[in-house]
Amino acid sequence: MLTANAAAALLDTEAEAADIRTYLATQERKTLLRFLTCGSVDDGKSTLIGRLLYDTKLIFEDQLSVLEQDSKKHGTTGGDIDLALLVDGLEAERQQGITIDVAYRFFSTPKRKFIVADTPGHEQYTRNMATGASTADLAVVLVDARQGVLEQTRRHSIIASLLGIRHIVLAVNKIDLVDFDQQAFERIIADYESFVSDLDFSSVVAIPISARHGDNVTSVSERTPWYAGPSLIGHLENVEIGAEDRARPFRFPVQYVNRPNLDFRGFAGTITSGSIAVGSEVMVAKSGRRTRVKRIVTYDGDLASASEGQAVTLLLEDEVEVSRGEMLVTPESRPNVADQFAANVVWFDEHPLLPGRMYLLRTETEEVSATVTHLKHRVNINNFAHEAAKSLDLNEVGVCNLSLQAPIVFDSFKENRSTGSFILIDRVTNATVGAGMILHPLRRAANIHWQAMDVTKASRAALKHQKPAVLWFTGLSGSGKSTIANLLEKKLHAAGRHTYILDGDNVRHGLNRDLGFTEEDRVENIRRVAEVARLMVDAGLIVLVSFISPFQAERRMARDLMGDGEFIEVFVDTPFEECARRDPKGLYARALKGELKNFTGVDSPYEIPENPDLHLRTLGRSLENMADELESWLRERGYC
Ligand code: ADX
Repeated sequence: MLTANAAAALLDTEAEAADIRTYLATQERKTLLRFLTCGSVDDGKSTLIGRLLYDTKLIFEDQLSVLEQDSKKHGTTGGDIDLALLVDGLEAERQQGITIDVAYRFFSTPKRKFIVADTPGHEQYTRNMATGASTADLAVVLVDARQGVLEQTRRHSIIASLLGIRHIVLAVNKIDLVDFDQQAFERIIADYESFVSDLDFSSVVAIPISARHGDNVTSVSERTPWYAGPSLIGHLENVEIGAEDRARPFRFPVQYVNRPNLDFRGFAGTITSGSIAVGSEVMVAKSGRRTRVKRIVTYDGDLASASEGQAVTLLLEDEVEVSRGEMLVTPESRPNVADQFAANVVWFDEHPLLPGRMYLLRTETEEVSATVTHLKHRVNINNFAHEAAKSLDLNEVGVCNLSLQAPIVFDSFKENRSTGSFILIDRVTNATVGAGMILHPLRRAANIHWQAMDVTKASRAALKHQKPAVLWFTGLSGSGKSTIANLLEKKLHAAGRHTYILDGDNVRHGLNRDLGFTEEDRVENIRRVAEVARLMVDAGLIVLVSFISPFQAERRMARDLMGDGEFIEVFVDTPFEECARRDPKGLYARALKGELKNFTGVDSPYEIPENPDLHLRTLGRSLENMADELESWLRERGYC
């Protein structure tokens, strides 16, 4: 982008130069408003965005025309400004590192620059909206004047509020289709206000518009003489944002450690919040080590101080241990470091959130496995009632306790949108399935510590002369898991090995007797048995687990609980037809008649193991022969 001086240097006369200089300086000084539009398919979201882009381009071009005429004589100043601004806006988004289907459109008026998150897709609307909203200051909630406030309107407003958006424009669209009726407009406002008063917004402004015809979009319409407020653009240009963000404490996630030679050790990153000066005291969030800032280095030279949004490299007074993903913070206001917290979660996957299932939790700096240990309640989006729930479905919102495999650094979302939020990723499909806003750390996390024991897994195993492990048998009901496990245990036992069988049918009579066969109950079933198996491996045993364990995610969770080489997945592969033919307990017959619900292979899925350690294709093989194969496999690898 041409700087004001460089552009001015191209011009002959002082007057022209002054004009251009003023113009470019204004461009640079203009504030940026990020917003998104929410609405259902027919509310006119696309029309509105199109209208905004089109109309403001006209305004912009108006402004530019004088300049362009001048520039044409001398160069390409006019075009440059526009493009550079556009690229600036998009680059910042790309650095967020979230790639979901959201297009960011840039436009500008003489007063302000705008980035609007265009969030297409009806199906995945909440996910796109959550992404678009993560950096937005304001949401334009569209309603159709003929329909008024709908469930979607409420849902989008709640999500906007959860995502930290403080300003709402209620755009009552298609006002032309109700003949510019003031009463219709006012009814909708009253309806929306009664609902929205419970949400934490700093401003809610209702504007009657027609996106199609342009009424009250860029200029105030004569067809709504009863409306005394600003046009949509007028409001977007003037709404005050971000004042409350100013005094946030210093947070600096370390993106990488820059060590070109022994004398230089810099920590590079972008300041998430707050500011820092040479000499300021900083602390490594996790270890609590304190030191001071020696230098603040940038490509354009050293700085005396730096603040939010600036990319800098910090050099510290002392040699402290700071690795990538760590956070440097101000010791005056330390973030939380914990492995359990409560959070608001918005779910946007077709597959429900299941407590007990392990997901990948990603914050701006860290990535760690996490489970929802307790779904405290789901929020009813119509009346904010807290409802008991066992899972969260697509587009639902709930309050959860989460437990992570390792502690992370975080603030509450209320204090800091960047360091207080996370996304959840499905570990099998890699899809982003939810977004979370942290409420507070859980106290019990701080109060429970691992008790160190003197007799260890290794010493227990040595006493038994064996290598402890779990053989995890998975397969359809009636596939032969339990029979093979039983035969194998007899062989191991006879050879003097210390073993134990955990069998689905048996464990479901005791420890898991409260669980049925819904998806969430099966997840919990496997979580518990995996934890028990882990304790038994710790006790030095060879554990044979025989559960259908139909879901890949839970089998993987079980694997992750054990140490290297301690989890052996055995896929007992018997075709459905064969299991149904054998039908030892008569369950297939009942399930196929529809008398038994959620039966694996009938109306509940079985996800085939992709990489089992042992794949037993049982058809045509004797049970004895398969048990022998397993025993030799274990012996060859030194388990027994
Ligand atoms: S799992 O899916 O949660 O791993 P688990 O192995 O504990 O299942 O229990 C499966 C056993 O419960 C089956 O062998 C069968 O005897 C019995 N059962 C009863 N109802 C069902 C059902 N709906 N689906 C599968 N198994 C069922």
